[in-house]
Amino acid sequence: MNEKGIVERPGQLLSRLEFYRDLGVEFLVSPMKTDSRKREAEVGTGLLKPEGFSGGPAADDREEWDRLIRRIMACQACPLFKGRTQAVPGEGHRQASLMFVGEAPGRDEDLQGRPFVGRAGQLLTKIIQAMGFSREEVYIANVIKCRPPENRTPRPDEIKACSPYLLRQIDLIKPRVIVALGKVATDFLLPSSKSMSELRGQFGDFQGIPVMPTFHPSYLVRNEGNKEIKKMVWEDMKKVLQLLKS
Ligand code: URA
Repeated sequence: MNEKGIVERPGQLLSRLEFYRDLGVEFLVSPMKTDSRKREAEVGTGLLKPEGFSGGPAADDREEWDRLIRRIMACQACPLFKGRTQAVPGEGHRQASLMFVGEAPGRDEDLQGRPFVGRAGQLLTKIIQAMGFSREEVYIANVIKCRPPENRTPRPDEIKACSPYLLRQIDLIKPRVIVALGKVATDFLLPSSKSMSELRGQFGDFQGIPVMPTFHPSYLVRNEGNKEIKKMVWEDMKKVLQLLKS
């Protein structure tokens, strides 16, 4: 049974368990235990923020979020709007302790209007679940909200035009930790001339928020047989979990 209480086919379950084994996951949290008592315990350990945590009145935040999402959906600040089916603002818990930031929507995301729902997204979902969370408990966003043609890397002018939206999301969510998925998110949050191999695994700082750079799930998809890369990502996620528990 997965975390939503849906019974998985044996093949699906096996592929999930194989992926966890390749990551180097040592134990799994039973979805049956993700009940309200566990949530309370996790709030106590800092894994989840208590409901109502936002640093501001919840109703004001809701209006602010509605305004922000409307602006993203109607945005024409860069030429990418011309090729989109729809913008992809991001999704998840608006008071999440843990936020994931990727690069830009791909084809599946552009069609569905949701971040990380293609192949890379399925891997990200498994990683989130291996960390003991559901997608609904974290927040998932991208630096760029519209799909670049042929999934090319976003250009600096596109990043400049779009980044106020991500900055506002971070400001509203106030996560305890951000995971930067891949080079575009890492360069945006932690500007440097270093490679991902040099940066991954070490916390950087974005406006007082610890940021863990790690490899993009698409890189895992492209190097599917490479267990070393999966293990490195899992090592990075273990550091994130340690920080959340501290
Ligand atoms: N890659 C990303 O960076 N973001 C998505 O939403 C999907 C794929």
